[in-house]
Amino acid sequence: MKLKSVLLAMSVALSFNAYAQAPIVIKFSHVVATDTPKGQAAERFKQLAEKATNGRVKVEIYPNSQLYKDKEELEALQLGAVQMLAPSLAKFGPLGVKEFEAFDLPYIFPSKTALYNVTEGEIGKGLMKKLEPKGITGLAFWDNGFKVMSANKPLHEPSDFKGLKMRIQSSKVLDAQMRALGANPQVLAFSEVYQALQTGVVDGTENPPSNMYTQKMHEVQKYVTVSNHGYLGYAVIVNKKFWDGLPADIRTALDKAMKEATTFEKAIAQRDNDLALEAIKKAGKTTIYTLSVKEQADWRKALLPVQKDMEGRIGKDLISAINKEAAK
Ligand code: LMR
Repeated sequence: MKLKSVLLAMSVALSFNAYAQAPIVIKFSHVVATDTPKGQAAERFKQLAEKATNGRVKVEIYPNSQLYKDKEELEALQLGAVQMLAPSLAKFGPLGVKEFEAFDLPYIFPSKTALYNVTEGEIGKGLMKKLEPKGITGLAFWDNGFKVMSANKPLHEPSDFKGLKMRIQSSKVLDAQMRALGANPQVLAFSEVYQALQTGVVDGTENPPSNMYTQKMHEVQKYVTVSNHGYLGYAVIVNKKFWDGLPADIRTALDKAMKEATTFEKAIAQRDNDLALEAIKKAGKTTIYTLSVKEQADWRKALLPVQKDMEGRIGKDLISAINKEAAK
């Protein structure tokens, strides 16, 4: 009897010890290639976080939809099956946080500076706050860039989109954008886009060049138009219960690592997109076209009304607050 309780005490102590030594694991799932702004920044965060916590935290990155596709990853985060994600801002609608779709409004950001005025100011903070009741904490906004359009026919004027099946992310603003061009929008998970383009399930798509190139979409799209009609960026988010339950010193170290990874991400995003566009050109399968001044004006005329049409969904006040910040 006595021996039994000694053994029991020993095994409790042993397992406690093992528990105390086991690192805190952060599973970070995302849908793009490692060689993208988001993919590289995730790697940088891992290095910084593991170093700053002396290995008490281990970050496991699962890129390229290896673990979960778009919609599944948000569910997995809420359930605690993964701890960290960086979905594009166009994917928060299904969570019930429609305001994030403001970032999808055509021509809402005339420049990156205008964008940062929003993400780094009060509007950005307010948007992140909206995630808390969903069991999610927002840590940072990460950048990608302005989108290009692609198809197997030249896309110069809005009328060129008539009847085209265009893949979009799950954002009602993007749905309205494609309809304003006369196209038929279709929501597809990012991991399914290449095949859908290849088999003709959809005719075209939009994305920053870094996403297009790393998924080889240019191999199945003959024409790319540099239109800069809209923006694609990310929110880095964590499961709130997990985050709040971390020891305070760990959370502080991770916050610092995230700040540094964010600075890195912003510094590489534009360059990555410029290089990707060059690489698409070099691959020689795709004609790259830049809109003329007149065509740009025609696109704006077709797409700007989407800002007004979406007031009911996004909120008139939010749209005008963003426009005001962007104009500073
Ligand atoms: C897309 O689905 O097109 C993008 O959101 C992918 C990404 O995460 O950049």
